[in-house]
Amino acid sequence: MEVKVVSGDITGLPLGAIIVNLFEGVKNPGGATAAVDKALGGLITQLIAEGEIKGKRNEITLIHSMGKIAPERVVVAGLGKEEEITLSVIRGVAAEACRFLRRVGATQVATIAHGAGVGGIDAEKSAQAVTEGAMLGLYTFRKHQTKEAEEGEIEQLLIVERDEEKLAALERGCAGGRIMAEATNLARDMANEPANYMTPTHMAEVAQRVADEWGFECRILEQADMERLGMGALLSVARGSRQPPKLILLNYKGGDPAKSPLGLVGKGITFDSGGISIKPSEGLGDMKGDMAGGAAVIAAMRAIGELRPKVNVTALVPATENLPDGAALKPGDIVQASNGKTIEVVTTDAEGRLILADALCYARKLGLSPVVDVATLTGACHIALGDLCTGAFGNNQELVDRVIKAGEEAGEYIWQMPMYEEYKEQNKSDIADIKNSAGRWGGAITGAQFLAEFVEETPWVHLDIAGPSHAEKDRTYLVKGATGVAVRTLANLILTHE
Ligand code: BES
Ligand code: MN
Ligand code: ZN
Repeated sequence: MEVKVVSGDITGLPLGAIIVNLFEGVKNPGGATAAVDKALGGLITQLIAEGEIKGKRNEITLIHSMGKIAPERVVVAGLGKEEEITLSVIRGVAAEACRFLRRVGATQVATIAHGAGVGGIDAEKSAQAVTEGAMLGLYTFRKHQTKEAEEGEIEQLLIVERDEEKLAALERGCAGGRIMAEATNLARDMANEPANYMTPTHMAEVAQRVADEWGFECRILEQADMERLGMGALLSVARGSRQPPKLILLNYKGGDPAKSPLGLVGKGITFDSGGISIKPSEGLGDMKGDMAGGAAVIAAMRAIGELRPKVNVTALVPATENLPDGAALKPGDIVQASNGKTIEVVTTDAEGRLILADALCYARKLGLSPVVDVATLTGACHIALGDLCTGAFGNNQELVDRVIKAGEEAGEYIWQMPMYEEYKEQNKSDIADIKNSAGRWGGAITGAQFLAEFVEETPWVHLDIAGPSHAEKDRTYLVKGATGVAVRTLANLILTHE
């Protein structure tokens, strides 16, 4: 879908549909909605008076214009209460309206920059939110379906503005929104892809392609490199798989070469069976999405490569499968990470922290600082926070605050979890330096405390996305399946990094 900004009067466009809006409780709308209402002989105000249009958030009312104005259909989209309008609301409304119009067969659609009038939202940000909402909400993953979709596609979305002075800001927002949405949809494509396609090798190929396309460096460390670097924890997880493990390194140089790069680390388990500590079979297919953190990191690098901020960023994605096999890691084994620490493997299903341990050690070796890791690390975090919210853990409050703020801007909820010292005791092993599972209670926290042992004093935040990486159903700008969560948060964090 192409999204572009045009100047003019929305009632004059001969398209399949236009989207205007209404705040809850407003009886006499202003702006574009008023213009359309007038052209339709007061039909919208009449429907409001009759109570059919209430303006509730995500309410969709379809009106056929029957030749009274150039557009064939008008959608009046509810924005909810005026005092509750946010960029997330705008993203959601744009998504719901566009999905609705795709269902009724519209191919060309025009909208206004919602909230940028009386709503008081910055015009550029509104255009970005409309673009993101539409592109994210219309996302589909159909590449393995040989039959054509029943629904057509919205080919073009126009953001229409009468005030010439606002056009430049709207264009900037639209361009930024497209970059953010395309990156997010790349992460979704990667995580929706079944594990027989999205192998560690294929993940590395995608990363290489992204780097080539957007002009930054990509290096793939192979098994022999990992052996040379003493990455015993990462290698131990890979032992059960026929797929060669990959440590993907992406390097974007936009800033002062003397400054240490910001580090992004993403968990890239392309399939998590649990290994010898095998998981129950119900819902096991969803574990193809256990590389969503790695996908988010690669996709954020794509956005950065396109946005070209003046910073240095290095991304690391350890990628492997976690499978049972005669050669596989076993419960009770002891493995050694590349910083020399020994790890007792209580369960082979706590594999994420094993591969991240070596990736975090490598981040230290490369001098990356600060470091943010993103991982579908624990079911415990999913249970604690549900699927709307990412858990944040860190050793540096300032960085935690910045990550949460970057999330707010993206409309991604991030909730800080505690890192009290005393939790570390639960990770103590009788026979090694540390163990990879501390049992059931506080599992998200002890998982984070395990990782903390490998970042040492580097300012660091760990984002556990086990809950929000996957959507059970379509909801506003999320589409059932992989959500691409954290891509836009990471991109925002980098854009505001000094
Ligand atoms: N990939 C899982 C965590 C997960 C669970 C992500 C559900 C998304 C949805 C992770 O590797 C795992 O298995 N964690 C274990 C850790 C435990 C054994 C210490 C868990 O959460 O049960
Ligand atoms: Mn696991
Ligand atoms: Zn896992």
